[in-house]
Amino acid sequence: MKINGTPTRTIWLAKDGWAVEIIDQTRLPHEFVTARLESLADAAHAIKAMLVRGAPLIGATAAYGMALAARANGSDLALALSYQLLLGTRPTAINLKWALDEMMRALALVPEDQRASAAYQRAAEIADEDVEINSAIGDNGHKLLAEIWAERQAKGTPGRLNVLTHCNAGWLATVDWGTAIAPIYKAFDAGIPVHVWVDETRPRNQGASLTARELNWHGVPHTVIADNSGGHLMQHGMVDCCIVGTDRVASNGDVCNKIGTYLKALAAKDNGVPFFVALPSPTIDWTVADGVKDIPIEERDVSEQTHMTGKTEDGAIVTVQVTPDGSAAGNWGFDVTPARLVTGLITERGVCPATPEGLKSLFPERG
Ligand code: MRU
Repeated sequence: MKINGTPTRTIWLAKDGWAVEIIDQTRLPHEFVTARLESLADAAHAIKAMLVRGAPLIGATAAYGMALAARANGSDLALALSYQLLLGTRPTAINLKWALDEMMRALALVPEDQRASAAYQRAAEIADEDVEINSAIGDNGHKLLAEIWAERQAKGTPGRLNVLTHCNAGWLATVDWGTAIAPIYKAFDAGIPVHVWVDETRPRNQGASLTARELNWHGVPHTVIADNSGGHLMQHGMVDCCIVGTDRVASNGDVCNKIGTYLKALAAKDNGVPFFVALPSPTIDWTVADGVKDIPIEERDVSEQTHMTGKTEDGAIVTVQVTPDGSAAGNWGFDVTPARLVTGLITERGVCPATPEGLKSLFPERG
């Protein structure tokens, strides 16, 4: 994506060729600040404290975290400990484990003194592959949006193409392009008059602060809405389709995504609105057969629920408490949408039904 005309990824190597730089997403939307990661501990902190977030970007950061670890100590023991440390940072996004396994595989047979350079090379490949995969998701999703847009025009109600999305599954959640937002960028760039309903996505507001920020940078028309608005908009014909991202897809097509996604899928089903999920193949957990039962759901600090951060009129960034002293709060990070509510899965290889057979038709090597 471009920021002020400059192509920018969300993670890159510093000019010195070994440190890793990221956008500190905890400072968005009001400040654009980068952070420098120099060690395994820095990478683990960046993931855990959500300086980087979004399943694909978490995976890429973990890969570079292993490279930083190998630079410091490439022994089998050090790498095994680094793997465990990074794996424990975020439990739900499966791309984290996928990337760590890829790194271990790439380093297993490499002599200790060459592991650092091999690790940097594989991490860079993982980042580049993410960009290619997401661009292909964008192309496949763009075709769907073009079809929905053509139907709308055929009905004589062109107006604009309204897409609802939840959380941030855009460029900021990946290395580039995004997953759910990639089709929107491609459709917009191709001239389809797309407009995005952006769920604010409490408690951390990834929609309001991140999706809105990046759509704004790209010039895509959008409207930030309260999380509870989607059902109303769908009932009144104001949503042509939903596209969300995902942190883990089970082999039966169940989709784990940011908390609140399930409610949107229910509302979409009730109103006959197509509900698509965009995913890169590293987000499929082939080992989980039943997503509702078996995907671990991250529970986060309740301060994310009890407090909110924003900008005051004089430009200061402040955090305020929004719940009464003494009230308990709960903070589940994700929920699982059963496959029966999902119209289609948009992958880099094409679009398939959210079923075991659908997934296997696109990924026969997993059959
Ligand atoms: O907790 P986060 O911000 O890491 O949440 C992950 C997400 O960004 C969303 O769940 C997203 O829709 C899937 S990741 C492309």
